[in-house]
Amino acid sequence: MGETFIPLADLRYAAERPRIPEHAAPPSGLLADRLGRPLRDLRISVTDRCNFRCSYCMPKEVFDKAYKFLPHDSLLSFEEITRTARLFVAHGVGKLRLTGGEPLLRKNLEVLVDQLAALRTPAGEALDITLTTNGSVLERKAQALRAAGLKRVTVSLDALDDAVFRRMNDVDFPVADVLRGIDAALRTGMAPVKVNMVVKRGTNDHEIVPLARHVRDAYGPGVILRFIEYMDVGATNGWCMDEVLPSAEVVQRLSQVFPLEPLQPNATGETAERWRYLDGGGEIGVISSVTQAFCRDCNRARLSTEGKLFLCLFASRGHDLRALLRGGCSDEQIAAAIGLIWSEREDRYSELRGAGTAAAGSGERRVEMHYIGG
Ligand code: GTP
Ligand code: 5AD
Ligand code: SF4
Ligand code: SF4
Repeated sequence: MGETFIPLADLRYAAERPRIPEHAAPPSGLLADRLGRPLRDLRISVTDRCNFRCSYCMPKEVFDKAYKFLPHDSLLSFEEITRTARLFVAHGVGKLRLTGGEPLLRKNLEVLVDQLAALRTPAGEALDITLTTNGSVLERKAQALRAAGLKRVTVSLDALDDAVFRRMNDVDFPVADVLRGIDAALRTGMAPVKVNMVVKRGTNDHEIVPLARHVRDAYGPGVILRFIEYMDVGATNGWCMDEVLPSAEVVQRLSQVFPLEPLQPNATGETAERWRYLDGGGEIGVISSVTQAFCRDCNRARLSTEGKLFLCLFASRGHDLRALLRGGCSDEQIAAAIGLIWSEREDRYSELRGAGTAAAGSGERRVEMHYIGG
């Protein structure tokens, strides 16, 4: 692989210009990587900026006033994103997730949603389009997003207690505004609304039960709360295992108060393990990327804000699709390049880390989550 690693002016992470195979068959939707995994889920980061500074993602000391975010002209335009998404859909993607940074900071995001909602799978079906947001401006944007075709949303919320929440977002943002964002999404008819809580032992683990209780009481089964193990993603959050609260412990703590039973997965390759309250109060999920890696069925690809394709959340290198999009390549050529990239994929970082063999890689810095999206 890779004779051409091109250092670009706005380059944070190495990316190579993808090779375009000469005699590629048109996309069939049957693409598989080296481990036999299909391509089903594309996560699109629409901005690397965020108005929060969660310490596990964008610690203030690193992402300060001097930090240089991507310049506007390096971002993919909505048209470029939609064109790229269409090619991924031809390859079998049925689910699109808009992420950031904070995606709702990207101006007129509903215009992009509208364009993406018009895409159809080869079988003529609409796509599952969703968005991960910190909820800070969701109250204002929910209606326009719903009208543009967004059917569901995931809101990050790490605590119910205002003081804990303000500490975790590290910009003193009040929890009440996020709760109003969730209410607004529900009022528009988005369903399900998911709430994601990253659990850090010693920081917010005492909020597990109160948040679960609140979600049950205030919303019932319409909102699915998911608990995420704190991950060693990126290179800036100072991760250590002591701060990871294993999902098994989350389930144990919760079931002491609200008895639970396991549910079958909705689909293969899902990140969350599902559980249901025995009293009918709805379902919860646990995402155990540290203690129970789920790489085996990982069907997710990630498109960064400036058009680099990453094959793993823990990658250090991307594939510069923007160079093709802006380099006069045809749809056929770009689709062929994507097909080749996926067919050579063998990433499974979490699994290797779990087995104690995670290659520190080439020593290159891993991508940050605010840049590549959750
Ligand atoms: P739904 O379709 O709504 O269930 O979404 P999802 O679970 O696929 O996506 P979501 O963005 O809600 O993922 C939740 C969290 O799981 C992310 O914020 C990450 O912390 C983690 N996560 C998602 N995808 C991956 C992945 O491919 N690898 C690892 N290690 N963690 C992931
Ligand atoms: N560990 C686990 N999840 C993380 N996220 C960001 N950083 C981390 C991390 N270190 C996820 C959270 C958040 C979303 C935007 O990204 O789910 O809600
Ligand atoms: Fe922003 Fe989400 Fe990262 Fe927090 S986790 S800093 S809200 S992108
Ligand atoms: Fe997929 Fe990489 Fe996450 Fe494993 S660590 S599930 S390969 S993104």
